Amino acid sequence: MVKVVRASQADLEAAVDALRDGELVAFPTETVYGLGANASNPVAVRKVFELKDRPASHPVIVHIDQQKYLKRWVTELTPEAEKLADAFWPGPLTLVLPRAESVLDVVTGGQDSVAIRIPSHPMARQLLDAFGGGIAAPSANRFGRLSATRAEHVQDEFGDAVKVILDGGECQVGLESTIVSCLDGSVRLLRPGSITLGQLRATVGEVLIGADSTSPRVPGSSAAHYSPGTPLTIVPGGELDALAESLSEGGQRIAVLAQRLPLKTYQYVTWVNAGKRAEAFGHDLYANLRTLDKAGCARILVQEVPGDERWDAIRDRLARAAAGAAADSGRYAALGTGVLP
Ligand code: TXA
Ligand code: MG
Repeated sequence: MVKVVRASQADLEAAVDALRDGELVAFPTETVYGLGANASNPVAVRKVFELKDRPASHPVIVHIDQQKYLKRWVTELTPEAEKLADAFWPGPLTLVLPRAESVLDVVTGGQDSVAIRIPSHPMARQLLDAFGGGIAAPSANRFGRLSATRAEHVQDEFGDAVKVILDGGECQVGLESTIVSCLDGSVRLLRPGSITLGQLRATVGEVLIGADSTSPRVPGSSAAHYSPGTPLTIVPGGELDALAESLSEGGQRIAVLAQRLPLKTYQYVTWVNAGKRAEAFGHDLYANLRTLDKAGCARILVQEVPGDERWDAIRDRLARAAAGAAADSGRYAALGTGVLP
């Protein structure tokens, strides 16, 4: 059964008042929770960067609730962009488009383009409708860390620093939106998400992968992103049990995120079976990593995921989580980092 989550009138008013006062509001989307500010108030948008510890060079997505408002934000919708917008909005797609002159530099990072999304989560739509303007919102997590897919994750990240947190339950997709740029006549996939490359190509034909060398800023351009604090290593399924067992025999507490059950029970191993379905695995990914991160383990081992495109976004986030966790911690360098040979 689909749970329809709606905010009460009082909560909605509190959120809209906060946005109008230049305060921050965390809100659910179908991908992950956003940390929102009035996209037309530079002081408010700067607060987002400060609270997240986010470098100014990482621009933010502007959320709107209807395509008719696009002209406030962008100068041009190419035929490809229009097809993508019609096919996937409202939904987990972000389009990078030529910016309108009035869009704030703090939003775009001073670039000629702006990232726009029309989310489908009912509570995000209620908020956008009641507010009436654009909401600039990155994912509601500290820079480089795991995104938040539940209201309590946002609370864990920021405590009381966010004026209002709208609780819309668990995010349906659980992974950040697919980002596609439609600039200079080409269509480029900048960040994989639940809308797959195949779906994009079926809609517009040719889609290039990654930013071109002239794109100044690329989503998640840092190889290290989406990271837990515990070192994370990706391990082929065939080696997972043996590695978990040998590390735990050495006396280390080990966490495992797998697509199956363990072959037997190991002492000191916390094993999460997230299943073989990409959708469910993605939905639970950040919540699982947050739980395992808190389990006091020396290392998180993640079973390598399948190569087909339904797993592209998950593979991308896990590779960055492994790189980020490695960069954070020299302590476990002896074990190696990233994908084990
Ligand atoms: O699902 C999502 O996209 C969530 C929800 C809250 O909408 N938002 C999200 O925002 O993931 P954030 O800030 O964590 O990731 C957005 C990415 C960043 O890596 C940023 O650099 C990139 O989008 N970005 C924003 N504007 C851009 C632009 N004009 N050109 C290229 N990349 C851009
Ligand atoms: Mg983010």
